Amino acid sequence: MAKLKIGVLISGRGSNLQALIDTCSTPDFPAEIVLVLSNIHGVMGLERAAKAEIPTAVIDYTEFESREAFDQEMSEVLEAGGVEFVFMAGFLRLLSDPFVERWYDRLVNIHPSLLPAFKGLNVHPRIIEEGARFSGCTVHFVRPALDDGPIIVQACVPVHQDDTPDVLAARVLEQEHVIYPMALKLIAERRVRVADELAVIEDPTYPSQSLINPAN
Ligand code: GRF
Repeated sequence: MAKLKIGVLISGRGSNLQALIDTCSTPDFPAEIVLVLSNIHGVMGLERAAKAEIPTAVIDYTEFESREAFDQEMSEVLEAGGVEFVFMAGFLRLLSDPFVERWYDRLVNIHPSLLPAFKGLNVHPRIIEEGARFSGCTVHFVRPALDDGPIIVQACVPVHQDDTPDVLAARVLEQEHVIYPMALKLIAERRVRVADELAVIEDPTYPSQSLINPAN
């Protein structure tokens, strides 16, 4: 089977991008990253892509008069680059409905909480303020509503009483770098399908549908 051609959307540091790059570099991996697209110039993720000799593009959203026009340009650049499936990795722009429709079930995101809890930005201080005992991260298909859509993979981590937001973020990020490659592998092997707005994983060896609990 041909390798699935992946585009990755970034806005910054790109540590999740790096995890995806590293995974794709394993022999016979069923996906390849064909384009990394940033909405901001000069970010570290672009350097990571260049180092891995992956084509990059920057589309500066300040040059577009509307969200729809910016998103249209993104779609065209992704398609011109041969992208079949899009991974958002720290992409800090809300997407317009037409973009989500165009990439429906071919667009995933990673979010640093156990969705559907704690949607939106700045999750870790809120999780600590609420006294949650567990947090984690979620890979999900993207839908028009923010941080909504069928859940593919989750990992959970404990929240300790003396955690600061930064300490908790680091614990969660470590798991992000485990589950995003895992989701990529499942998707590239065509083992994920959406039925009744739930992501179904066709893999009898896969643990408890979609949960890794590092505490086990
Ligand atoms: C991650 O925490 C991700 O879950 C969130 O944005 C952050 C991006 O980090 N969507 P990085 O750019 O991948 O290092």
